[in-house]
Amino acid sequence: MRIALLGASRGLGYEVAKLSLNFNELLLSSRKLEPLQTLVEDKKNTELYSCDFSLNSAVLDLVKKIKQFQPHRIWYFAGGGPFGNFGEKNWQDHQWAWQVSFLTPALLLHSFLKENFLECEQIVFVGSSVAEDQADPKAASYCSAKHALKGLISTVNLESNNKDIRLFSPSYMDTKLLPPNAYPRQQGKKILSPTLVADVFWNWALNSDGEKHFRYS
Ligand SMILES: NC(=O)c1ccc[n+]([C@@H]2O[C@H](COP(=O)([O-])OP(=O)(O)OC[C@H]3O[C@@H](n4cnc5c(N)ncnc54)[C@H](OP(=O)(O)O)[C@@H]3O)[C@@H](O)[C@H]2O)c1
Repeated sequence: MRIALLGASRGLGYEVAKLSLNFNELLLSSRKLEPLQTLVEDKKNTELYSCDFSLNSAVLDLVKKIKQFQPHRIWYFAGGGPFGNFGEKNWQDHQWAWQVSFLTPALLLHSFLKENFLECEQIVFVGSSVAEDQADPKAASYCSAKHALKGLISTVNLESNNKDIRLFSPSYMDTKLLPPNAYPRQQGKKILSPTLVADVFWNWALNSDGEKHFRYS
């Protein structure tokens, strides 16, 4: 099976890449490729592709690259945004959050629906069980992007229910996305291991009966 993993150089995407490596042909993409070079070493069935998902022109090239690779599955992990009060952060940082966490996934979903990725059976995005459903102070652009992603996927699923379009929404995970001073760490909230979450993701994504929207906390 060919799988495109987008946002695979650290965090949840990296853990899923580790699980996928021995069984599949992979296209692994993120901005930085160094961690992936070490991971894949001389594996012949793996391609690495550097792309900045916040840049529209780079994402259009990524779409071309995915078309050539012809994956059976596309899994998009990237997301993020600035931490702080909305009005105090730079506009460019909010734009970055919306692009990486919503507009780029939306473009990939549109390409999937237009059948640009010929053999592709499944597309999966990562939401957030917290930020997509409730207010998330100091993360307004991230939170609004995750709300939008959930709205988009649930709506498109009603329009085209014969397609395997999914949203995986974990709770807090112990990755670089959650800085040392992040609110859930300070409050002593439960923080999941990304290795454990990757196992759950893997079993759910490969299960043809998996729920279209799966929350894990
Ligand atoms: N951590 C949490 O507490 C938490 C909770 C709920 C949901 N989530 C969601 O789970 C997903 C994975 O989160 P994570 O914690 O694993 O994140 P992470 O550790 O920050 O990793 C993000 C991955 O996406 C890539 N990426 C980020 N921006 C990119 C860009 N502009 N262009 C290309 N690649 C980019 C990063 O690689 P490079 O930097 O090398 O490009 C990295 O591989 C995200 O959608 C996040 O919103 C996270």
